[in-house]
Amino acid sequence: MTAMIELFLPDAAATDQLGAALAATRPGRAVVHLHGDLGAGKSTLARALLRALGVQGAIRSPTYTLVERYPLPGGEAWHLDLYRIGDAGELDFLGLDEAEADLWLVEWPERGGNALPPLDLRVALDMQGQGRRARLQASSAAGQAWLSRLEQSGHLQGFPAA
Ligand SMILES: Nc1ncnc2c1ncn2[C@@H]1O[C@H](COP(=O)(O)OP(=O)(O)OP(=O)(O)O)[C@@H](O)[C@H]1O
Ligand SMILES: [Mg+2]
Repeated sequence: MTAMIELFLPDAAATDQLGAALAATRPGRAVVHLHGDLGAGKSTLARALLRALGVQGAIRSPTYTLVERYPLPGGEAWHLDLYRIGDAGELDFLGLDEAEADLWLVEWPERGGNALPPLDLRVALDMQGQGRRARLQASSAAGQAWLSRLEQSGHLQGFPAA
């Protein structure tokens, strides 16, 4: 089981590649938190992941809507951006049925308080020169298994070490 993976993403194409790799190895249900400053690449990663899962058409940033929902085979993917949320209680007012979400991709999760379901995978993106450093940290057995599959899949072989 793998608890943590660090990668260097030299450009946005590498972030896209990581998104595709996460999509290819994802568990049936997962809650993913995307940490990082403004412009760190959280939406880039979420978009690449959603694309790789077959989402077609526009993938808008949920900056103002708080959540954008996408159908997946067997459920839905929810992309949240809580940057503009007033307080965590606002999430309840969205009136969403959590049972429908098989995949949560949450930007600015620290603003969601404990209104969010338990975490499986924490992704932190930091500026590093022109590129980004990505730290993937598992927070559940499902998250650890995900990182193990990611390592064993060969998807990460093209990435330089962080
Ligand atoms: N690995 C990378 N190296 C260099 N630039 C990158 C990398 N990944 C993404 N970018 C670029 O960073 C910019 C900001 O990306 P993005 O909108 O995904 O940030 P964000 O973290 O979602 O910000 P916000 O908090 O405002 O939602 C985009 O122009 C994107 O192309
Ligand atoms: Mg964003």
